[in-house]
Amino acid sequence: MNKLLFDYNFASEERLPGGISRKALKICGDKAGEGLKKLRDMAEKGLVGFPDLVNQDLSSIKKLASEVRGRFDDLIVAGIGGSALGIEAVVNALLPYGYNALGKDLRGGFPRIWVADNTDPSKISGILEHCSPESTFTVVISKSGSTVETAANFSVIFEWLKNGVKDISGHIAVITDPEKGNLRAFANDNGLPVFDIAPSVGGRFSVLSPVGLLPAALMGVDIDKLLKGAADVTAGGYDKILTACAVYIYFMEKGRSINVLMPYSSRLEKFAEWFCQLWGESLGKKNTYSGKTVRFGTTPLRTVGAIDQHSQIQLFREGPLDKTVTFIGVKSHSAEKTIKGAFHKGFSYLEGVGLGELLNSELKATEAALLTSGVPSVRMDVDVIDEYSLGQLFMFFQYIVPVIGLSADINPFDQPGVEEAKEYAYGMMDRKGFEAKKSQFEEIYKKSDDFVL
Ligand code: PA5
Repeated sequence: MNKLLFDYNFASEERLPGGISRKALKICGDKAGEGLKKLRDMAEKGLVGFPDLVNQDLSSIKKLASEVRGRFDDLIVAGIGGSALGIEAVVNALLPYGYNALGKDLRGGFPRIWVADNTDPSKISGILEHCSPESTFTVVISKSGSTVETAANFSVIFEWLKNGVKDISGHIAVITDPEKGNLRAFANDNGLPVFDIAPSVGGRFSVLSPVGLLPAALMGVDIDKLLKGAADVTAGGYDKILTACAVYIYFMEKGRSINVLMPYSSRLEKFAEWFCQLWGESLGKKNTYSGKTVRFGTTPLRTVGAIDQHSQIQLFREGPLDKTVTFIGVKSHSAEKTIKGAFHKGFSYLEGVGLGELLNSELKATEAALLTSGVPSVRMDVDVIDEYSLGQLFMFFQYIVPVIGLSADINPFDQPGVEEAKEYAYGMMDRKGFEAKKSQFEEIYKKSDDFVL
């Protein structure tokens, strides 16, 4: 079976001056062990729900997917952050490149998919111009049920649907909190199918809940296999997770303040975006649980190999030594294309070479080049990109991130730092209850023309 490998050769003291020694691995591993213990205690108490998602009952998701199958040309997913990035990663990894441009037959009868996340009018208008209400199914996702971007985008989509179909009820599914929020009330009032996000499953940890699984199932993705991959991450124990955490903790403590994720596959580009939210929002914390100011966290950076060899590697090798790089390698790329004959004799060395083979050689070359310039890197490998390996990657990082956070006594599950800007925006939109925030904002947001050219 397609096993996820974690290779830290080029982060070890044996290969990299300043790399992690066996002694440091033990010390940092013990810290990670403390973090894991806290996480498992929280999971046992029902406070953290993502580990148990591998045991969820998928019957209602599968039922809706089979009822809807073949009836729609387009699926719109309205959500943002943790309610959008997971399905984007799934689509990017598992559907063919340029999927939406394929005809319905080549799509296996499944709809095209559009993710309405940003409230950029050009994006939402563009999506609606591609779709027609009678052949569009919409899944609206918001754990809190109150996120302004999702509320705004879905209001536009809902209006468009209402104007285009007699009965909206067969066109919408809702994913939200089991009890709270306006979205829940909307689903109940309109008798819409509604799926729960358990209160113990945070937004950025929700890809393996209905948030990612319902849209994935609507697109024909094998969600059992996705969960099987996720479950197998811990089936053999936690050693790999703890080792990975120990390596990350070591370099964070050494002041490596940027954590680069560099998959060598365009199919994992959106996965890298998903990772950035998980890492950034979970680990970037001012205070510990006990109130000590620590300003914890490192900055996640998404790149893609080989593209960013022509963009970022110069900086990684010769700029500040503040980065740790995590590569993701894919042993066997789907649809391998072999170069039969080069278009010019100057490229004859490429003859007989597969494009995937070239990509993997470039990955090794970049690993070596970073090593020679003193940049630590680790490498995760999957055999192929499929539901199973993607499930593994999701779950592996979903463990690593909170274990690191809890080992440092910060709360990896909240996001107090995002509230202030949200509240100012509510104030500007004259939302009831945010009058004081509006005044506060107006007091702060003063700019002088002296500084504007
Ligand atoms: O991780 C989180 O909780 C957040 O990033 C949310 O995913 C994001 O803010 C969207 O929230 P909601 O699903 O409540 O609309």
